[in-house]
Amino acid sequence: MLSSVTHSLRLGASGCQGSMRSMATVISGNKTSKLVRERLKNEVEKMRSQFSGFRPSLVVLQVGDRDDSNLYISTKLKAAAEVLHSIMSVNENLSVHGLIVQLPLDSVNPINTELITNAVSPDKDVDGLSCINAGKLSRGDLGDCFIPCTPNGCMELIRQTGVSVAGKHAVVIGRSKIVGAPMHDLLLWNHATVTTCHSKTPDLPEQVSRADILVVGAGRAEMVSGQWVKDGAVVIDCGINHVPDETKASGKRVVGDVHYASAKQRAGFITPVPGGVGPMTVAMLMENTVQSAQRFLLKNQSRW
Ligand code: GUN
Repeated sequence: MLSSVTHSLRLGASGCQGSMRSMATVISGNKTSKLVRERLKNEVEKMRSQFSGFRPSLVVLQVGDRDDSNLYISTKLKAAAEVLHSIMSVNENLSVHGLIVQLPLDSVNPINTELITNAVSPDKDVDGLSCINAGKLSRGDLGDCFIPCTPNGCMELIRQTGVSVAGKHAVVIGRSKIVGAPMHDLLLWNHATVTTCHSKTPDLPEQVSRADILVVGAGRAEMVSGQWVKDGAVVIDCGINHVPDETKASGKRVVGDVHYASAKQRAGFITPVPGGVGPMTVAMLMENTVQSAQRFLLKNQSRW
């Protein structure tokens, strides 16, 4: 296990003793992601010395709403065709091992996101968003797919706490394809009992209060109150929300989906925002790209 949890002094045993209540240990995504990237650096060095000149390579395709592009892309069909054409060409490029299409697609002409994410070759889909990779994850074939980066990073942070997932009650808030749904699958196949909550869940505080492990990816600023959190729970906050703050020069600040100050009073472990899940997402993208390059080398050893 990588050890990068920032330990704080824990006062009291059960976390419910008035001013002696223990404060959560902060799980640092900044530190953990640095460790992951150090490990990846060594793995890439190994690949480069074994297969001279070899470099894992990632392409990030961004669909932008630029006026000059709009001159060329005039219809919905053309817009999608342009993107699909770019994807096909990267799919066929043997020197690229990972391809992600940045979401949401920013185009005046609506493009079917499913069509685009499923056009990425499953072998290069380091976002884990194609239905092939998502299907494998949902069936528990964890060793044979790419796991979406944010949930993968959350699992790494949970591992850092030393709290074992097996047998725990995990609650996920949000069911997006990029965070909530794959997070549910990952926790399930790591043997937690999982409840996934969403906008139509009627008794959210009640559900949250049962969570030994709580992962929130709802996209709503500070929607989870600390009072809902079970004493000693592991709280992982995937939210990145901008809220007005007149004390800042920018006039705003970033907060998560969890009310951090109050949740910290009750949780056993908690991720900060910023500096928690965010840097882990980037590190796991690098990890998936390196993994893809390693799989490519295994299949194509004879070429090198
Ligand atoms: N937009 C925000 N997060 C992500 C991500 O993890 N992958 C992609 N492709 N787009 C995103």
